[in-house]
Amino acid sequence: MPKIVSPVHSGLKTLMDGALLIETLERVAELRGDPAELVYTHLFEAYPDYEALFVMDQDGGVRGTMLSACFDCIIGLAEKSTMPLLILEAAQLQHDAYDLQGEDLSSMFTAIRDAFRDVLSNEWSQRHEETWHEALLALQEISRKAANQPL
Ligand code: HEM
Repeated sequence: MPKIVSPVHSGLKTLMDGALLIETLERVAELRGDPAELVYTHLFEAYPDYEALFVMDQDGGVRGTMLSACFDCIIGLAEKSTMPLLILEAAQLQHDAYDLQGEDLSSMFTAIRDAFRDVLSNEWSQRHEETWHEALLALQEISRKAANQPL
């Protein structure tokens, strides 16, 4: 039975299965190890202009740190903590120079979901689809809120 989750401060009520989000992260780590390359392939396919922003990131270090901040948001959402809002508020400031705000940032979470769907392949169920859809909506909402609520 899925638990009612209300992402903190988002005001959004959703029937989201936080345990399945964590389970997906763990399963991706088992099957793929580091999914960074696949996540950024999805991001740059959807938004080709973003690739040039990382031209200085020769060793992938910035992309790795950014991805792990996104994973912390997903874990925080699953655990109903205030972490996603705090991380996304900080990210708003950090990305201001690139003119990336609010929902622009949440496109990373869509790329992560798409990469995870690829990795899980035929293990990806309707329940995964619904849970991740709910998670993306919640993260979009929190990103929007963070954009209007500077630190
Ligand atoms: C489409 C969405 C995003 C794009 C295009 C993007 C782009 C970038 C770029 C170009 C940098 C390098 C900044 C620099 O070195 O000056 C960066 C760094 C960073 N981003 Fe993002 N970002 C996105 C979403 C996010 C999100 C959602 C988070 C947090 C949840 C995040 C967290 C970070 C962090 C923590 C860094 C610093 C990494 C480091 O210095 O090692 N980003 N991002």
